[in-house]
Amino acid sequence: MSVYEEIVSAREQALSSIQSATDLSNLVDLEPALFGKKSALGSLKGLMGKLDASERASVGQALNQAQKEVQEAHQKSKNYFFEHERNLQLGAEGIDLTETLKNPNHRGHLHLVTQTMERLEDVFVGMGFTVSEGPQAETDWYNFEALNLPEAHVARSMFDTLYLDLGERTEIGDGEGGESTKFLLRTHTSPVQIRVMESQEPPIYTVCPGRVFRRDTADASHMPVFHQIEGLVIDEGISFTDLAGTLNDFTSAYFGGAIKSRLRPSYFPFTEPSAEFDITCVICEGSGCQTCQRTGWIELGGCGMVHPNVLRNCGIDSEQWTGFAFGFGIDRLALMRHGIKDLRDMYTNDVRFLSQF
Ligand code: PHE
Repeated sequence: MSVYEEIVSAREQALSSIQSATDLSNLVDLEPALFGKKSALGSLKGLMGKLDASERASVGQALNQAQKEVQEAHQKSKNYFFEHERNLQLGAEGIDLTETLKNPNHRGHLHLVTQTMERLEDVFVGMGFTVSEGPQAETDWYNFEALNLPEAHVARSMFDTLYLDLGERTEIGDGEGGESTKFLLRTHTSPVQIRVMESQEPPIYTVCPGRVFRRDTADASHMPVFHQIEGLVIDEGISFTDLAGTLNDFTSAYFGGAIKSRLRPSYFPFTEPSAEFDITCVICEGSGCQTCQRTGWIELGGCGMVHPNVLRNCGIDSEQWTGFAFGFGIDRLALMRHGIKDLRDMYTNDVRFLSQF
């Protein structure tokens, strides 16, 4: 075999061993056999010294050419396996963040309290009421004073209040007709009726839903943050029977015909006379159960004829206009309607609970 034939065969052998490598470490292991002194091409190089000077140049060239081809093939194969193995690793370590998109039917929805609030608004809008909103941080004037609850009034103890420390801003009073210097988180939605009466001419037919705050420790039936809806009607010739009738119409429109309402005498500083309003127990429909303590009735909220002092505080002539107001808790309503035992479940954001509604 001529030296040229030996070069060709050494090259073929090297290339075929590269081709049969199956991974990167295989290729690395091959390096001594391909490029070492004892490799086929390496030992041919070692023989160069024994060649005639006339042959040396062309043999050297052929050897270099063969070596270059082997090197290139080796590098190309190494690149291929490097890329391939890296992709495999990335695939194995990757996190599929598109998981939720795999099920197009899985979508979030409104919280039970929001759903309840929106349904209540719908029912009242259907009865001809508008919807009004007000700020959650209020002044003492709107939350208490304008509602016939002056500073030292004993009935303030009905509302465990969270006061706000606004530093220098506590000097700024913005209550109309009052020198209010205290800021607080509203304890009920009643301040919104003051804001509505201040800014709108009667007749007024409006409901005010919203978030309210009281200094309470969370337990199965209390939360320091909860929701109320307030109703306010101011018109000429409005009497207590209008109040009773409106609450009864609302009750059957919201809960269905089997549920009735009743009023019991009560006290609120901003209404006179005042009443507590009950509805037929929604669980047993009046026959008596655990929820209603076997009375057949559950207490929903408070109501009454707007106190003349409150009308006066808002610049409304109490000789010409009369009206009524009512208010009740939305969270408790949702709780009863769905037979939920613990109010706290509504706010711990456990998806297993929330997704049921
Ligand atoms: N604001 C009262 C409360 O939070 C409820 C109420 C509203 C009572 C309107 C009478 C009239 O307890």
